[in-house]
Amino acid sequence: MTAYALAELTAATMEAEAGAYGLIEDALIAVSEGQIAWIGPRGDAPREVRALPIHKQEGRLVTPGLIDCHTHIVHGGDRAREFEMRLEGASYEEIARAGGGIVSTVKATRAADEDALVETALPRLDSLIAEGVTTIEVKSGYGLDIETELRMLRAARRLGAKRDVEVITSFLGAHAVPPEYAGDADGYIDEVCLGALEAAAEEGLADAVDGFCEGIAFDTGQIARVFDLAEELDLPIKLHAEQLSNLGGAVLAASYGALSVDHVEYLDEAGVDALAESGTVAVLLPGAFYTLRETQKPPVDLLRGADVPMAVATDCNPGSSPMTSLLLAMNMGCTLFRLTPEEALAGVTRVAADALGFDDRGVLAEGMRADLAIWDVAHPAELAYRVGFNPLHHRIFGGAR
Ligand code: NIG
Ligand code: FE
Repeated sequence: MTAYALAELTAATMEAEAGAYGLIEDALIAVSEGQIAWIGPRGDAPREVRALPIHKQEGRLVTPGLIDCHTHIVHGGDRAREFEMRLEGASYEEIARAGGGIVSTVKATRAADEDALVETALPRLDSLIAEGVTTIEVKSGYGLDIETELRMLRAARRLGAKRDVEVITSFLGAHAVPPEYAGDADGYIDEVCLGALEAAAEEGLADAVDGFCEGIAFDTGQIARVFDLAEELDLPIKLHAEQLSNLGGAVLAASYGALSVDHVEYLDEAGVDALAESGTVAVLLPGAFYTLRETQKPPVDLLRGADVPMAVATDCNPGSSPMTSLLLAMNMGCTLFRLTPEEALAGVTRVAADALGFDDRGVLAEGMRADLAIWDVAHPAELAYRVGFNPLHHRIFGGAR
């Protein structure tokens, strides 16, 4: 790959210590071997950088490629009927307890072969890519038997081969109790979930291990058994926790040094302190909050005060967040949760990288992957400000223009 430089642009480097988006006016970015070889004010560029072929950006804004660090884009079927039921008055929990919800997607996912899972996920992936996403996390969790959990993860891996995007997978066997184990969550964990995790690890299909700690899913004791195995397999952990109630999932996940704890609407002060202590990211999912018309907001002020890094993701899934726009998630993070536009952008770049355990992306700096999003906007606040508008001009993945 030949080296080149981008110039006549404003760079939002998103480096933590820089502040103000790490903005560099009239910046130059040199790209070589898929990495950022140099970045800074154009006037400071060394001679060998100035000698590179230059692609002028006409004053556009360049940010790190966006990272959607929490999605469920691989699944069968849809839940539009459930959307209607909620509008008729049923709650998410009522639908789940009546055998709908996650379990209805499990039925559709079990019925879909691997090709179908790939084909139906691609338009969702393309929608995210069209907004500058260069790294995406994809979870299993709609199989809930060994065969289908592995099929979902294989489908997720294939997505990464089909598009210029990096796909990171999380094993989410502890997502719901399948109908054949109704009333026996312990049996499901011990007889299916742990074996599925072992098989996924053996095939190299899982980059991380996730769970759903909630009244309609699993308690902390059950999740701990999954995390113990994850630790044995040397896989990092994440957790859906304190979404609808507080079962102490965040404290548990923090005790395992989790990469992230996600949703966290019901997180309390003890949970915030635990996250701060363990350096765990809080992933905010405003799409699920919006779709379920929740009223309990994540404790953003407490998180901010305790310096817990906050990421933002789509949670793209057929039930609680049928959303395929990370820009909309940023907007909702600001409008619904009162994030600043800078926090929202950090939440889909630098902090989202942390939530996935990456230290080679999410900021624009020398030596980082050249995953770039080039925007037709003058100021980075515009990315979170508009609703339903996509100002992406061009996306660069691993240096490839
Ligand atoms: O992240 N909270 C649990 N899991 C998903 C919901 C999945 C579904 O409803 O299908 C979530 O919101
Ligand atoms: Fe989720």
